Amino acid sequence: LSGVPGFALPSVHTQQAYAPDGTFTARWTRADALQIKAHSSTSVPAGQNSLPAQLIMPDIPADFPSINPDVWVWDTWTLIDKHANQYSYNGWEVIFCLTADKNAGYGFDDRHTHARIGYFYRRAGVPASRRPANGGWIYGGLIIPEGAQEQVFAGTTYTITAEWSGSMRLLNTNGNDVSLFYTDMAFNRNAAGEDITPSQAVITQSLGKIHADFNHVWFTGFTTHTALLRPDGVLYQNGAQNPYYNFRDPFTFEDPKHPGTNYMVFEGNTAGQRETPRCTDADLGYRPNDPQAETLQQVLDSGAYYQMAAIGLARATDSSLSKWTFLSPLITANCVNDQTERPQMYIDNGKYYIFTISHRTTFAAGVDGPDGVYGFVGNGIRSDFQPMNYGSGLVLGNPTDLNTPAGTDYDPDPQQNPRAFQSYSHYVMPGGLVESFIDTIETRRGGTLAPTVKVRIGGAASAVDTHYGNGGLGGYGDIPANRVDINILAF
Ligand code: FRU
Repeated sequence: LSGVPGFALPSVHTQQAYAPDGTFTARWTRADALQIKAHSSTSVPAGQNSLPAQLIMPDIPADFPSINPDVWVWDTWTLIDKHANQYSYNGWEVIFCLTADKNAGYGFDDRHTHARIGYFYRRAGVPASRRPANGGWIYGGLIIPEGAQEQVFAGTTYTITAEWSGSMRLLNTNGNDVSLFYTDMAFNRNAAGEDITPSQAVITQSLGKIHADFNHVWFTGFTTHTALLRPDGVLYQNGAQNPYYNFRDPFTFEDPKHPGTNYMVFEGNTAGQRETPRCTDADLGYRPNDPQAETLQQVLDSGAYYQMAAIGLARATDSSLSKWTFLSPLITANCVNDQTERPQMYIDNGKYYIFTISHRTTFAAGVDGPDGVYGFVGNGIRSDFQPMNYGSGLVLGNPTDLNTPAGTDYDPDPQQNPRAFQSYSHYVMPGGLVESFIDTIETRRGGTLAPTVKVRIGGAASAVDTHYGNGGLGGYGDIPANRVDINILAF
């Protein structure tokens, strides 16, 4: 096996499957993640893309259309069954988005503490070329009756609540019962916006019904909110251990190899005190005697141990999906990255892929990569997952110059590629279609859906399909159903 001169080899990962209830946790190691830097050109002019083109989302034009004048839109998901098929309902496609009121006097960067889950719908079965440029989505309003999500925090002290990401399960494909899994957030903050006590993140279920007639789509229910999981501090880090802990973004699914059992992946962090260096040689992942290997002491001295992401797994212990038990993390990124967000299980052709989104600014000291999608492949839901593409993990990044500082989406570095924050919160849909939202393009803020792109996924390698859409960019917010709900018959 030949590596890149000057860089260590990636870790060995067998893709072997382990029992879902077991304790094997795969590692996205430093040796793996450093392959991103290894495959980044050091000679591009500043502000260009330094990364391999087949792993990079094409440039989104700066004159992008907006989905809606009244609400900011970011993380978006679809109406799915236990196998992540996307259903239309009664002839309508439906999406669920984090939204924030544009008219309430706060900007896009203040959205997180005002986030509410809203929905949009549009007629199913119309090709993107015959839709309006913005995708033609009709805003339907909010899903949860105002304040209902606060019941989860009864008896606790908080100043503001928010609804963060999750997923929507169609419980029966011949009925209209749906289950929302989302992250119920409560913040206890002073007037300056600082935490008085750590935020509370609770993975929560709420049941409702979808309805549609010839003119519109609407929802009822979502009045009862059941707390499913709070981080235990044993497998998953909690607020007492780290006020900046991440715990959110539930995605449920069934494994065809274990029919009848429901699983959930979610974003978490490795348990333990934030200040305690907890990485090991295994997290570094260097092969024996690799001349390019870092020492554990070097890594710990760099402060990389503040970045301790984990992709969590839980199993439902009742058929109504209202009781869950934690299992060991599927993948950790200790001393590699602090956030592996919106993880999803994507099963295709006998292979199990975990896709997750992450940021350049949450990588640990010494490792680097763009904002975008990272992917891992194995032979079962718990595997010795192999990071895709050169063993790096990178699947779909924003055009980024890794030789130039990251900047931020709200304060871009003028030397950086003006599209380094063009999109985020990607979700991989059936057939490798990927939807996301626009964050910042040439200093213009988005808060709207990005063009859909297509990734060809084949085992440990993937590539952006440049024949899809216009040079690789499909329609804005083109989020098609791949299944028709049986209710179409009643239409
Ligand atoms: C990803 C994310 C999610 C979270 C939401 C909050 O964009 O960080 O992990 O649920 O945004 O706005």
